Amino acid sequence: MLKPKVFVTRVIRDKGLDLVKEFCEAEIWSEELPPSRSVLLKKVRGVEGILCLLTDKIDEKVLEAAGPQLKVVSNHAVGYDNIVVADATARGIPVGNTPGILTDATADFAFALLMAAARRLTEAERYLRAGRWVTWGPSTLLGMDLVGKALGLVGFGRIGRAVAKRASGFEMKVIYFDPHADSAPELKATPVASLDVLLRESDFISLHTPLTPETRHMVNADFLSRMKPEAILINTSRGGVVDQDALYSALKAKRIFAAALDVTDPEPLPLDCPLLTLENCLIAPHIASASTYSRDMMAYLAAQNLIAGLKGERLPHCVNPQVY
Ligand code: DGY
Repeated sequence: MLKPKVFVTRVIRDKGLDLVKEFCEAEIWSEELPPSRSVLLKKVRGVEGILCLLTDKIDEKVLEAAGPQLKVVSNHAVGYDNIVVADATARGIPVGNTPGILTDATADFAFALLMAAARRLTEAERYLRAGRWVTWGPSTLLGMDLVGKALGLVGFGRIGRAVAKRASGFEMKVIYFDPHADSAPELKATPVASLDVLLRESDFISLHTPLTPETRHMVNADFLSRMKPEAILINTSRGGVVDQDALYSALKAKRIFAAALDVTDPEPLPLDCPLLTLENCLIAPHIASASTYSRDMMAYLAAQNLIAGLKGERLPHCVNPQVY
């Protein structure tokens, strides 16, 4: 029997790739950089499935280029702002994502960023490597304590909750703002009535919201001006949630203590980005989910979604169930 044709936009971990190869006639893009737009439009022609990464924009043009036989789009990420889901839904095409399995890795990393920013870890290492460590000093590189401090979570979904668990181990007080979240009494986290209250009360603010038209540049000059002057901002969601120019101004003026970002806009961040000139801004290259287990399982779930869609079965993780 003929295997269905699919295009996989990058080499994913074997746990998923082996499954894809077993069930599909797969063309796998093996370069380090994603296929360009024109290459993508060419490669999807005639395929029944697309397995894409968060670096690939999938919109009506791509779906149109693929053709009417396209059955499924499977994203190798939990976030899916790279896909115009409405375009897929209009064509009755299910879109898959990879929730759950990267929750702990991402929460661990959010907490690592929080601690590194609080204790100025990357700045301290730069200081040492620059030969500036001449003696032990009572006031050298002083940072912030965690115990008793308030951590404000913007978004209380899977990852926000996992960060809350870690914070209570550090004896922090956890508050959150998320009008859509169910309460979680076991987590010792308190909902607040508005973002304004969260901004006013938090010593640390960690963002766990998807990027949507409503959340784009949610962290703007006004948001930053309402944070405590010694507060720290952590972002492991999407770069577009933060207005980076406003963040630069706030950090430069020491309007807040620090920021730690795993995500930027754009990605990769150009080396002449002003944020990179600041000691109080830590930036990682979008690696919060980059643990071996998590990346293996992301590949596996993405392959499972792809294959289910090709078989005409319901995707295990579908972001537009209205297609059914
Ligand atoms: C996701 O899955 O959306 C993450 O951002 C990948 O690290």
